[in-house]
Amino acid sequence: MSVWSELAKNQRFAEGRHILDLFAADDSRASDFSVRLGDMVLDYSKTNIDRGARDLLVQLAQECGVEGRRAAMFGGERINETEGRAVLHVAQRAGDDAVITVDGADVMPQLREIRARAYAFAEDVRQGRYLGQGGAITDVVNIGIGGSDLGPAMATLALAPWHDGPRVHYVSNVDGAHIADTLKGLTPETTLVIVASKTFTTIETMTNARTARDWMAGRVADPAAQFVAVSTAQDKTAAFGIAPERVFGFEDWVGGRYSMWGPIGLGVMLAVGAQNFEAMLRGARDMDQHFCDAPLDRNMPVLLALVGLWHNQICGHATRAVLPYDQRLARLPAYLQQLEMESNGKRVDMAGRDLDRQSGPVVWGEPGTNGQHAFYQLIHQGTRVVPCEFLLAAQGHERDLAHQHKLLVVNCLAQSEALLQGRSLQDARALMAAKGLDGDELDRQARHRVFPGNRPSSTLIYPQLTPFTLGQIIALYEHRVFVEGVVLGINSFDQWGVELGKELAVALAPLLDGDDAAAASKDPSTRQLLDYLRAHQNG
Ligand code: F6P
Repeated sequence: MSVWSELAKNQRFAEGRHILDLFAADDSRASDFSVRLGDMVLDYSKTNIDRGARDLLVQLAQECGVEGRRAAMFGGERINETEGRAVLHVAQRAGDDAVITVDGADVMPQLREIRARAYAFAEDVRQGRYLGQGGAITDVVNIGIGGSDLGPAMATLALAPWHDGPRVHYVSNVDGAHIADTLKGLTPETTLVIVASKTFTTIETMTNARTARDWMAGRVADPAAQFVAVSTAQDKTAAFGIAPERVFGFEDWVGGRYSMWGPIGLGVMLAVGAQNFEAMLRGARDMDQHFCDAPLDRNMPVLLALVGLWHNQICGHATRAVLPYDQRLARLPAYLQQLEMESNGKRVDMAGRDLDRQSGPVVWGEPGTNGQHAFYQLIHQGTRVVPCEFLLAAQGHERDLAHQHKLLVVNCLAQSEALLQGRSLQDARALMAAKGLDGDELDRQARHRVFPGNRPSSTLIYPQLTPFTLGQIIALYEHRVFVEGVVLGINSFDQWGVELGKELAVALAPLLDGDDAAAASKDPSTRQLLDYLRAHQNG
């Protein structure tokens, strides 16, 4: 019997069992179903995974070759097979003595040189040595989208307690509202624009970059002098008019959604300084080391991946909620949506064969406690099971508001407890009786107050959200995505699924302007929408 079939058998058995029974049968379950790295703990004991299932999951990871693929990734092999590229975001955070080769050549010297240049530039801006045409830089606008936005935007917000540089804003959407609202309050003479695009062809980014350049040209003699580019395409940055000394390159073996560790993180460097950025890299490096060294059954990214595979591919729960009880991780769910869904939302395996199981899950979420007052109702009482992943810091940064942090913490614990315990009909009836209800009305009201419980969650807990911890957390998720991808046999590092919509958008532009012959080839719904737009845009 294959490991997948054995896992399916184990799952059928688990279906009839309460997670509480697992705790009752095993005094050490909480600690045994937790994994540690330094001060960070991932507690996955509130899931319906028992020892047998965990052994099988670890066996699955082994049989699927996770260790070999991991070595291949860190060794610079071209594991992004559909694009023929190595996958070396880990090199961007490797230590000073690391040697990482692609096709026999050490990539580290060049990478270190670019990192040093980016740090030096960030410090020049922060210390007022690099000036805008109206004096010291007060604001930075990072124009980028997807991986050139979500990672640095998420990290900039996460590290707010360390902000001591210019204000850093992020513009991504091609909707003119985004850039218009951002630039409205800014002074062109003291604003620096970063155009962040791996390819320097992305239509949203290039359109916004031109808008920003026009805005600046209205007030500044040499707008290009206040532009910086981060890209792999130096011919294109030059064509845009950005001088080479303000261009920070990286290689195509750093995937867009894995790129916040290098110059794509320039906005973060400007906001918090090189030292704090370095601490974030150290945190990621710490997780890399653990991922490479820890045995699979005590390996945090591997276990997080296996819990995800259990819930999605084995139990059939199609979505996963990420619930940071940490307001400064408000952008983490959006960041993870790209990281996980662009990486593992694939329908064929590496060889191009249809997957014989589901691809990666739908990932979504919001910070707690906000989500509690919005969608937790469904998580507790809806008919679908939504595995939840809580993140929680033991300490906040606002020492004078420790009482608020305490409230945050107890809410997080209460949610995972409520998901686990639920409330029985008997208890609900007792509650209603205590309120003075009886008869049919007591029954009716009680049924609305039943919580099925037995709903799985995991909790990642850490002392405080620091640059180091943030680095650990993000690297943890990156490696989790990697492991899930290897087990599913897919290429986590391409993204062909985003191409068709881009091509069609380009083809649709002339139709909006009235190319009737071309419009006739469209489906009836698209034709109707085009007619509507033409009628309402030219009025
Ligand atoms: O369209 C998807 C995508 O290619 C992402 O993978 C990428 O992060 C984003 O667009 C932005 O790409 P670029 O950095 O090349 O502008």
